[in-house]
Amino acid sequence: MKINKKVEEAINKQVNAELYSAYLYLGMSAKCTELNLKGLANWLYVQAQEEMTHAMKFYKFVLERGGHSVMPAIEGVTTEWKSPLAMFEAAYEHEQKVSAMINNIMDIALAERDHATASMLNWFVDEQVEEEANSSEIADKLKLIGDSKEGLFMLDKDLSTRVFVDSTQPAGGAQA
Ligand code: FEO
Repeated sequence: MKINKKVEEAINKQVNAELYSAYLYLGMSAKCTELNLKGLANWLYVQAQEEMTHAMKFYKFVLERGGHSVMPAIEGVTTEWKSPLAMFEAAYEHEQKVSAMINNIMDIALAERDHATASMLNWFVDEQVEEEANSSEIADKLKLIGDSKEGLFMLDKDLSTRVFVDSTQPAGGAQA
């Protein structure tokens, strides 16, 4: 069954939103690189890569279901942040917005009785729990650290270990 038009429109918007997310995190990563916070920059860069896979999952789904893709402009982002805390607070706020968007697509899919989309969206509903938790946890740590250079150094070291894994793939492996 071809994708429902209302669902298609909402998912196309979400492709754009996920690409915007990638751009947002890339801008944050660039700022952290400038500040010589290489671990934070790494974490944010990996996050940008993750957002790209989210966009691709939605993009592929529309085409797989016989839908039509639209590619409107991606909104610009800032690379100017007053502190790492401000960044991660904004990231947490952003992720909450993304969760609301995904819930909205789910509402549309259910109202249109598009169960295939609802099933695909379940993955994103679960993913968003993690996305919100990750950004809010780092924001909380940065709040605790306050002005401590040592604390920031430790967190930076911690975040340098994050590696990109494509979690949209069944075994977390390479794209098919
Ligand atoms: Fe793709 Fe961070 O949500």
